[in-house]
Amino acid sequence: MQNKNFQIDNSGIDPQTNFSDNPDFQSVLASRRSFLKGSLGAAIATIMGTALVGCSSDTAEPVTGPVGIKPEPAPVLLGFAAIAANRLDDITVPTGYTARAFLPMGTPVSGSYPAYLADGSNTGADMEQQVGAHHDGMHFFPLDARSSNQNSNEGVLVFNHEYLDANVLHPIGPTGLPRPADEVRKEVAAHGVTVAHIKKDAQGQFQLVQGSPLNRRITGATPMDITGPVRGDAKVVTKYSQDGTRTRGTLNNCGNGFTPWGTYLTCEENWAGYFMNADATQPREHRRYGVGSRNGRYYWETADSDADQYQRFNATSLRADATEDYRNEPNTFGWIVEIDPFNPDSVPQKRTALGRFGHEGVIFGPVVEGQPITVYSGDDSTFEYIYKYVSKASYFKATAGGHLLNDGTLYVAKFNADGSGEWLALDINNETLMSKAAAAGVSFDSQADILLNTRLAADIAGATKMDRPEWGAVHPTTGEVYFTLTNNTARKPEQVDAVNPRANNATGHIVRWKENAATSGLSFNWDIFLLAGDVGTTTPGTELTLTADNHMASPDGLCFSANGLLWIQTDMSGSQQGTGPFGNNQMLVADPVTRSIKRFLVGPVDCEVTGLAFTPDLKTMFVNIQHPGDRSTPNQFTSNWPANDGSSRPRSATVIVTKDDGGVIGS
Ligand code: FEO
Ligand code: CA
Ligand code: CA
Repeated sequence: MQNKNFQIDNSGIDPQTNFSDNPDFQSVLASRRSFLKGSLGAAIATIMGTALVGCSSDTAEPVTGPVGIKPEPAPVLLGFAAIAANRLDDITVPTGYTARAFLPMGTPVSGSYPAYLADGSNTGADMEQQVGAHHDGMHFFPLDARSSNQNSNEGVLVFNHEYLDANVLHPIGPTGLPRPADEVRKEVAAHGVTVAHIKKDAQGQFQLVQGSPLNRRITGATPMDITGPVRGDAKVVTKYSQDGTRTRGTLNNCGNGFTPWGTYLTCEENWAGYFMNADATQPREHRRYGVGSRNGRYYWETADSDADQYQRFNATSLRADATEDYRNEPNTFGWIVEIDPFNPDSVPQKRTALGRFGHEGVIFGPVVEGQPITVYSGDDSTFEYIYKYVSKASYFKATAGGHLLNDGTLYVAKFNADGSGEWLALDINNETLMSKAAAAGVSFDSQADILLNTRLAADIAGATKMDRPEWGAVHPTTGEVYFTLTNNTARKPEQVDAVNPRANNATGHIVRWKENAATSGLSFNWDIFLLAGDVGTTTPGTELTLTADNHMASPDGLCFSANGLLWIQTDMSGSQQGTGPFGNNQMLVADPVTRSIKRFLVGPVDCEVTGLAFTPDLKTMFVNIQHPGDRSTPNQFTSNWPANDGSSRPRSATVIVTKDDGGVIGS
């Protein structure tokens, strides 16, 4: 029986809006830059200060990636026929390709391998040993990636579980308030990360390696270390960790990344919604991130037992019923978390030097021996920012490791109207930032304080408010950075700027930039790669006009394959899919040189297509399908994928795509 006042919002996670009064470039509207004229090649050479390298080159040495992945020789790329937009409750791929579901939610993956129960009756303890819900960011690590292994037949597939649909997860949906503790345990366990050791069988099909010690579930309750400048800070001291060095769990794991030293990075996006704080005045490190005042997203704080584990989601001060001091619990979230997929006993590391915000994903810039590493991450909320971290120490392959993510400088992007851009240091030693803070009546007393309040520091620095930065991708040979800006219907005409050029931007766009070596990467040059939209949408300054082969909305997931193809995944809302011309969420692939774009995959009803990985030979592609049947009720499922039997509850799953002739995906 549902409590009358108890409602869980299953319609996706709305972004929070940045209401800071940081200007939206009104002052530069008059001088909006003209987009590049002339041929693409000339334009790129002008703006980027370099020529793009042909993306199918088999001679260019890749400069990123944990294993120095080298593509197959000269495949003919984009040689397939684009598929049509559709609303089928299934996976659609081009003629000549095959897709099959793999590792759906509930698949037993570790421990005692509890069987998946199709009626939703698996317990919380079961879920801790099964694949979680809402698959998202993903990476395939060959065994062992650190030895430059090119093994495309066996590896570790690591993927995120962003959130859940309580109507689908439980037999009859959530049963009311207070939340039964085992429902909460199951939901906490449905979050986090799955590490799955997979290997091709005799038929060449990837299967889970049952009983492998590498198989692992990391959840919203797994103990983690807090590292970097915030480690030990008073604002992360809890009863659970009285020296402020540890916390429990990772939540809302959206996009991902991977390091050159063979570890996985998971990103905490809309974590604030899991907490509540009913204090009349919330501290800034809660308020600016949208911690609610009435309840957490799933009411975990009401769990009817196991108070020690679940009351922590109520961060209200000095509650009489509290068994611990939970005020600082939200401060231990909002970080990027490093996981060693080859050591099942390793403790995940929260890397605070990379900033605290709604991390969508994380992507490394070109990695060069003897130089610092560069890491990009977007903050996916309305009018939020794009960040870059540069390590203090230099990268050396022989000694590279997580320490490079603990000490460095965090910058935020300012996009100028003339196609240039600046990186603004969010550093306690940046006198410009500190004087701006003083003028705004804001004080920061340490680098930890700045990092805990990254959004506020970026507001003060004067960063450019973006149309919801989602994933980034770095071209494997040119080092150019591409970023999706998924949409922003809140942008008013007077808030339009050069890099966010459309008011009421319902369909989103993709921006790209190249770092300016002459300023040691403190500035960059940018242009808009594409404006998403319906058939006929043009991207000014280019010859790109979208057609029925590639019209799209709400670009989100973004990934370069090692052969230089740019894969674009969409996350349209239910209504945009239902009423728009775009069909279900989908994946397209672009040649960044010619801007030729083709639709490659369409997902089932009410899903998001997100997360992408390849084997080193580029002949197996892993794609995640998140929340098929997103608008289901406990009695009526709007999708039955992947069972496709007309009755089963929908399950998020990975999809394995192969080419029937055994060739490179996308060729
Ligand atoms: Fe979880 Fe921004 O998508
Ligand atoms: Ca996303
Ligand atoms: Ca999204």
